Amino acid sequence: MNGRRHYAGGDLARALTIEDLRHMARRRLPRFLFEYVDGGAEDEVTLHRNRHAFANLALVPSTLVDVSNRSLAVDLFGRSVAAPLVVAPTGFNGLLSERADVALARAAARAGVPFTLSMASNVPLEEVASEAGGRLWMQLYWVRDRDFIRRLVARAQAASFEALVLTTDVQVSGGREWDRRNYRAGMALTLRNRLDVLAHPRWLWRIARHGGLPRFANLRELAPPDAATVVDDMVALGRNMDPSVNWEHLKWLRSLWPGRLLVKGVLSAADARSAIGHGADGVILSNHGGRQLDGAVSPLEVLPAIRDALGPEAVILLDGGVRRGVDVVKARALGATAVMTGRNGLYGVAAGGESGAARALEILRQEIDRALALLGTPDIETVDARVLHRRANSQSPATTSPLLEGVI
Ligand SMILES: Cc1cc2nc3c(=O)[nH]c(=O)nc-3n(C[C@H](O)[C@H](O)[C@H](O)COP(=O)(O)O)c2cc1C
Repeated sequence: MNGRRHYAGGDLARALTIEDLRHMARRRLPRFLFEYVDGGAEDEVTLHRNRHAFANLALVPSTLVDVSNRSLAVDLFGRSVAAPLVVAPTGFNGLLSERADVALARAAARAGVPFTLSMASNVPLEEVASEAGGRLWMQLYWVRDRDFIRRLVARAQAASFEALVLTTDVQVSGGREWDRRNYRAGMALTLRNRLDVLAHPRWLWRIARHGGLPRFANLRELAPPDAATVVDDMVALGRNMDPSVNWEHLKWLRSLWPGRLLVKGVLSAADARSAIGHGADGVILSNHGGRQLDGAVSPLEVLPAIRDALGPEAVILLDGGVRRGVDVVKARALGATAVMTGRNGLYGVAAGGESGAARALEILRQEIDRALALLGTPDIETVDARVLHRRANSQSPATTSPLLEGVI
């Protein structure tokens, strides 16, 4: 845009921003994989909208405030977290680096924030619990096999997971045509992509050393007994995904699970109320990082109305497009309890395993800290809508585009 270069070398300490980690990841990963992480659905309107929603919100700092002591800690379900961050569930992390689920979970534990394990992880939930510790949440897609759900929930309980996250915005897969174009029939990469994989020998070596592409470790029981590869696991999961999932299923899940329960994929006040009404302990406002319904509204745009609808005590998380600490501060100002972060950690783990994931969280932490100082609000708990720029004669925060107008 402005001709500035990003860092894409091998030294994590020289990655100053998430965008640097993204460039490092791009260099290390075969193209089809980088696209898998980076892309959104269809025309990527929602993917970009998520970033614009943050950019279009302006802050008004208070000056001559003593900011020498700053605090990023917030309360989440009655316990303190070091910063208002939760690592979002992402499937197939094991393609990005070895045992990336554990790497991300360890980085989160070190940073003092919860980690959410995807149901489509490559490491079994029990191993993540024993190798990483920390506050662990388990994500669930609704599948037809109820016994499987029962067993998975029981396993998460036995492994002391704190929360269950039901993802509700994958009734069917989003249209990611660029992803499909990378394959010929089935899951066979096109010739061009196979050549590109050969041009990434270090990635190839890592995968080969661990016996090929990692399986979906929590989903073995869904696949037929003769399933031998992760492609078989993917086919089994695809066949089992249940588009009939509805509020009654949430009620059933509530009766099964004694821990915290969150619904991920909420974008309206009516659904947020319904989630709480059916027993959820919190909602995650999300459009799946722009990977599902293209054209969907951004969580930041609907946050104020949902905070109004649920009241000041409700746990409301938000994800999609958080790339800077100042985005986290803006989300807090509009009423989010905390934000979930997806791609940030993935760029980090692809760039440098556990250290890279930790670097991503550290960059965000440093940026939040700096934003609090420059905003003149040293305690993140006291950040509220007063820090947002309002147009004259308007009750709503002013934005530089019509995007957020009428919504907030
Ligand atoms: C590569 C990738 C895989 C994902 N896999 C899952 C998943 O298995 N389960 C889920 O609930 N969400 C999944 N998501 C969505 C994330 O949890 C989260 O909503 C999204 O990444 C947030 O946007 P951000 O990446 O802009 O932070 C995935 C996202 C990405 C980028």
